[in-house]
Amino acid sequence: MTYAQPLLENWTPEQAARMENAIFVAQHRLHELPLFDNEQLIELLDRHPRQDLGINTMGTDPVRHDQWQEGRAGQLNAEQLFEAANAGRIWLNLRRVMDHHADYARLVNALYEELEVGCPGLATYNRSANLLISSPQAIVYYHVDCPVNMLWHLRGTKRVWAYPLESGIVSDETIEGVLCGEKSEELEFQMEWDDLAVSYDLQPGEMVTWPQHTPHRVVNTGGLNVSLSTEHMTRRAARRNNVYLANRHFRHILPGDFRSVALNGWRPALKELMLRVLRRVPLLAPTPPQGYKYPVSFEVDLEAPNCVRPLTNTTQRQLAVNAY
Ligand SMILES: [Fe+2]
Repeated sequence: MTYAQPLLENWTPEQAARMENAIFVAQHRLHELPLFDNEQLIELLDRHPRQDLGINTMGTDPVRHDQWQEGRAGQLNAEQLFEAANAGRIWLNLRRVMDHHADYARLVNALYEELEVGCPGLATYNRSANLLISSPQAIVYYHVDCPVNMLWHLRGTKRVWAYPLESGIVSDETIEGVLCGEKSEELEFQMEWDDLAVSYDLQPGEMVTWPQHTPHRVVNTGGLNVSLSTEHMTRRAARRNNVYLANRHFRHILPGDFRSVALNGWRPALKELMLRVLRRVPLLAPTPPQGYKYPVSFEVDLEAPNCVRPLTNTTQRQLAVNAY
């Protein structure tokens, strides 16, 4: 589908060259589309499958990532959930909108096609997108993502901190752990690292992105927040992930200290090839990433403080996990 006007705004070749190589803010026009007004968002929430709807709440201290909690919608309909995001301390994540909604698949593909035209040499695959609807004061704790990600901000305001990889805050072992699905939920954060961060107050119509594996955190600063989070892979991003995974796996099964994260030349290519081969050998294959699943510990309730009603009873919690 083509849109009447470009979705990216004011992009110059110099900007395009910085994509994927720097913490980078640019402009777009997605927020002008009717797709993101209240009525359409409620309608989207209504037709979005509940098993792909993340519902979370959190504390207020950026260090206390242990206060991130998983919730359930209970009997609430889409309009009531939307109201809870407006009035409470709730994070709604409509996962994989491209898979569930053809209009979103068209939009995100059109966006990537424009990006690829604007950024010579950029070739993306495994594109996916999550729509985030979050309360005016919600936060997301410090974390690292595996694919390349871009945050297209649509409504409300938020402050984003990104911690440059060159600062050395995040070790190669940590990135390996995240890629294995081990560490992403338990990354330690210290407030003083903010001195090393690039922070930005994101307005509707702005997009922020950063080099793959750059740690980041987010604090909403006003109004109901709506953002589209897109993720993609490139050949280089896949090589990077495979080199980290190969280093870790080879250290376990082979003599030698595999640490280099260089991406160019024949050695990284060979590492990637060997990892791919080993994945097919049952006794030598690395364990596939598991990921951590939070227990469901609250139900969204418009009458409760922050619209969060804790499930205190163990049986109730267990039932919630089973029903999820
Ligand atoms: Fe993220």
